Amino acid sequence: MDIFTEWLRTTITVLVAVFSISLYISLNIRSNKSVPKLPPGPPKLPIIGNLHQILGRPRHEALWQLSKEYGPIMQIHIGSKQFIIISSAALAKQILKTQDHVFCSRELFQATKRLTYNFVDIAFSPHNGHWREMRKLLVSEFMGPKRAKLSNHVLVTEMESIIRSMSSNPPNTEVNLSSMFLEIVKQMVCKVAFGSDYRRQPVNGPSWDVMLGETIELLNGSVGDSFPFLGFFIDQFSGWNRRLNDGFKNLDAYIDTIIDDHLKTNTEEISEEDKDFVHTLLDISSKETDSGYRLNHANLKALVMDIFSGGIDTTVVTLIWAMSEINRNPRVMQKLQTETRNCMGKIEKVGELDTTKMTYLKMVVKETLRLHAPAPLLIPHASLSHTQIEGYDVFPSTAVLINAWGIARDPGTWGENAAEFYPERFENVEGDFGRDRFEMLPFGGGRRSCPAMNTAPANVEFVIASLIYWFDWKLPKGMKSEELNMEEGGTLVLKNKVPLCLVPAKHKWED
Ligand code: HEM
Repeated sequence: MDIFTEWLRTTITVLVAVFSISLYISLNIRSNKSVPKLPPGPPKLPIIGNLHQILGRPRHEALWQLSKEYGPIMQIHIGSKQFIIISSAALAKQILKTQDHVFCSRELFQATKRLTYNFVDIAFSPHNGHWREMRKLLVSEFMGPKRAKLSNHVLVTEMESIIRSMSSNPPNTEVNLSSMFLEIVKQMVCKVAFGSDYRRQPVNGPSWDVMLGETIELLNGSVGDSFPFLGFFIDQFSGWNRRLNDGFKNLDAYIDTIIDDHLKTNTEEISEEDKDFVHTLLDISSKETDSGYRLNHANLKALVMDIFSGGIDTTVVTLIWAMSEINRNPRVMQKLQTETRNCMGKIEKVGELDTTKMTYLKMVVKETLRLHAPAPLLIPHASLSHTQIEGYDVFPSTAVLINAWGIARDPGTWGENAAEFYPERFENVEGDFGRDRFEMLPFGGGRRSCPAMNTAPANVEFVIASLIYWFDWKLPKGMKSEELNMEEGGTLVLKNKVPLCLVPAKHKWED
């Protein structure tokens, strides 16, 4: 045997030995390791996963239907991405309360990265110290008592002008409430946040309303996000990337204009009372906060984006659904008219209207938020670490969708009449939804719940009470209450597909 053959034989023997040992070790480890127990879910197809089962119909409805077969915790795959779907109040409580510390992060989608200036906003930021500081800023500076006073003042002024204008309409004039509510809320948010009148078109881009609608659609994410290797090409060929670029450019230019305008004014010359939210943010960004945090330019822009995308549409759709349901239910309308008018007696000024004692009104708004949760799947939550829910394994960085829409309509919780608009169901119901109770979650729950969950309903109540107090309402000529169009559209925020048009007549008091 020559030296080469000897060398070859030794090498092969060593390789076979190493391979056998590795195989033995790996098989041994695998058999010792417990197999993860994953939640049930519909069978998936190669490449697309379960995409075919949720396309072509509203996602929340498709998922609710699937949950009836696979249970309150199920997994689905969009492309290669796993999503855990939660469809019961009990499990929502697990996610948003018992294990809130695990599920308080967010899924990082590529589409949101751009619009949130690299996830430095509040709503789409992962759970970290930066998110905590930003949220603290929003709550103290945008939702604190000073701004609440200003926001109330703007709301009263807007309602005064609307009531004046509707009172002078010729009899039987139809009013488009969908656009009216958008005007009111835009004006309120823009005045308080940016100190400006939104009616001033900021840049040579699309109209304000188009920009807002597009931003919300883009924040919903792209198909490509679920396909790690092909994603870029899918988004490129479907035109998504171009849409995202254009949408971001318009929004960014708008936010730049707002900030530049503010930078031109010397904040030292403006009294504390007259400073708007952006003025305050610019002041804060010039120094470190008490906790050593410093707000930079991108953070400031991301905060403005959150207010723009989170603070307007949600309130507008709640107002539209509330007026739609009230007008579809003459019994509720009559009860509400009696309450608002009996509570106030005859008043002259819009600002005198006080909703604090209007208990039925509060139930009407709650019932609206139950049947028409503006964000049907909330904003996707994500897990920070490995945990178990109902004995099923959930691994770190798993996206979790909570079907707030389905949970709030579940006959198992809400009874036989779950689909009916019946505000009286809230009589004697104690506790806050999203904090103590989880049978409905219009504002989400836990650490990532909506920071406006205490303030937003009061604005809705005031607008509805004013409209019901000053006017008697009719449906457009020839329309029966059951014919009012209640079709839903949209993804991240559910709107009604057809604008709501009604006919107001100034209420005449009997002497
Ligand atoms: C009726 C009105 C509103 C409704 C129904 C609503 C609903 C929601 C929902 C469902 C979430 C997600 C919660 C979760 O994922 O668990 C959310 C988050 C958020 N909302 Fe609202 N919202 C409303 C008004 C507002 C307003 C006026 C603002 C003001 C700027 C606002 C700012 C935010 C922010 C910043 C977040 C993200 C919170 C976080 O991730 O820490 N929302 N909202």
